[in-house]
Amino acid sequence: MIIAVDGPAASGKGTLAAGLAQHYRLPHLDTGLLYRAVGWSVREIADGPEFEAQAIATAQALDAAHLSDLEALISAEAGIFASRVAVIDEVRVAMRTYQRDFAGQPGGAVLDGRDIGTVICPGADAKLFITADSKVCMERRARQLEARGLSVDRYGLYHQIEERNARDMANPHGGFYKADDAHLLDTTLLDIETSLRAAIAIVDGTMARKAGL
Ligand code: C5P
Repeated sequence: MIIAVDGPAASGKGTLAAGLAQHYRLPHLDTGLLYRAVGWSVREIADGPEFEAQAIATAQALDAAHLSDLEALISAEAGIFASRVAVIDEVRVAMRTYQRDFAGQPGGAVLDGRDIGTVICPGADAKLFITADSKVCMERRARQLEARGLSVDRYGLYHQIEERNARDMANPHGGFYKADDAHLLDTTLLDIETSLRAAIAIVDGTMARKAGL
């Protein structure tokens, strides 16, 4: 079973995807981390042809070593670099195979990102599109970062999330929209446990319907 979980920055999709993966005993890929790794690799290069060429080269050679510095990759700064390289079509194309190979492993997988249900796995068995109010998203992300011992400027974080969402939604190569067959789950008023129960109910319901039950 392949489960696609998409949604804007800090909407809770990663937490939900991890919960779904645990519930259904499936491997989980946070595809945002791939874009963060590519973005992080070009953080010291000024915008221009070199920035683009290096981003494409990293995307083409991406492996586990690029994903090891988790502390740096989860930072708000890495998120901004990720959204800058995500607008480069060749970067997206280079990473498609990695993501589709992951999804195609025996038994299936859970992938979360922006374009899983639309571009990476349009035939996914179950698709969720997660949303939440922007201020709620910011507060959740702030607490995640603080739990890791990082200090957070909430005003700055809010604007970084807004900037990323605006760039992601305007990205002509991004595939970032709700697929017609995706289920919308607004988690603004839900805690993690309630959101996860709702997501499991959606997946179970989708699978039952597909099985004709
Ligand atoms: O999900 P996360 O916030 O970690 O993603 C970081 C950035 O990577 C996003 O803002 C977006 O620009 C990009 N991304 C993407 N497609 C994906 C996953 C992430 O464009 N499937």
